[in-house]
Amino acid sequence: MTTVIHDPREFQRAMDSARAEGRSVGFVPTMGALHEGHLTLAREARARVGERGLVALSIFVNPTQFGPNEDFSKYPRELDVDVARCQSAGVDVVFAPAADAMYPKGERTRVQVHGVSAPLCGPFRPGHFEGVATIVTKLFALAGRCVAVFGRKDYQQWRVLSRLAEDLMLPVEIVGVRTVRERDGLAMSSRNRYLSAEDRAKAAEIPKALGRAARAWQAGERDANALRTAVERALEPIADSIDYVDVRDPESLEPYEASQSGDRALLAIAIRVGKTRLIDNVVLGEEPPPA
Ligand code: PAJ
Repeated sequence: MTTVIHDPREFQRAMDSARAEGRSVGFVPTMGALHEGHLTLAREARARVGERGLVALSIFVNPTQFGPNEDFSKYPRELDVDVARCQSAGVDVVFAPAADAMYPKGERTRVQVHGVSAPLCGPFRPGHFEGVATIVTKLFALAGRCVAVFGRKDYQQWRVLSRLAEDLMLPVEIVGVRTVRERDGLAMSSRNRYLSAEDRAKAAEIPKALGRAARAWQAGERDANALRTAVERALEPIADSIDYVDVRDPESLEPYEASQSGDRALLAIAIRVGKTRLIDNVVLGEEPPPA
């Protein structure tokens, strides 16, 4: 049975009592509209804490991580469907707080992670990672000691939150799970439902372009500019705009330098197809081609 908790302090007490009974806690923060990607994180959390452990998944559309012209108000909200999905994925506790419970009147604290928040999505979504770091710090304060599972689909977010947990010495082990994809390779995302049929067909070009870059890398290409340019050329015909195509060190997110980055490089993109902003990435030299 999945228990739904709305009150933050009640969630905190539930996690404390589980640990007092000797159960480990696995925690999956989400904004809901759950798909197979999210459920894969829940199953990873279960694998980490075992059958006796407790798996909690939070659903909270966090206002502070959306920009003024972003999709906060129309972000899909469907708690009942989400809880049913959690039930079938073996989640023990769904934590679904109200906005004013997480941001009560008078709150003034924000959390900033420098460095890794700056490149890639940083300039295009000012304040976004501050909003993410702030809400996740609050969620971690409530969850307490746990294994927290995130997706590498939001690769930069995963790096930001790993930095956060380490720098603030939080009792949280951060796990990053590889991107779960549709059959044609498109990364699963709650935002894919915004795509028209025509835009959905265009979006399939994203994993193909990343896949060609991954094969070029396998064949020996190490010139970041050549890789970037080839991906840009492939995305131009299908993108209404390109925020970035970038090749970075997979750990520090500094620009890729063959001498510094080992034989791995993060190739990350953000584009708009129609009005929908899509992100994707592949770690060259580590992951198989996404399509
Ligand atoms: P959300 O977009 O709902 O994603 C929740 C978690 O699911 C994130 O860790 C994300 O990387 C992961 N995820 C989404 N699609 C995935 C896919 N196709 N494969 C693997 N993992 C996937 O990310 C957020 O919410 C928020 O920023 C949050 C961390 C909850 C803070 O508000």
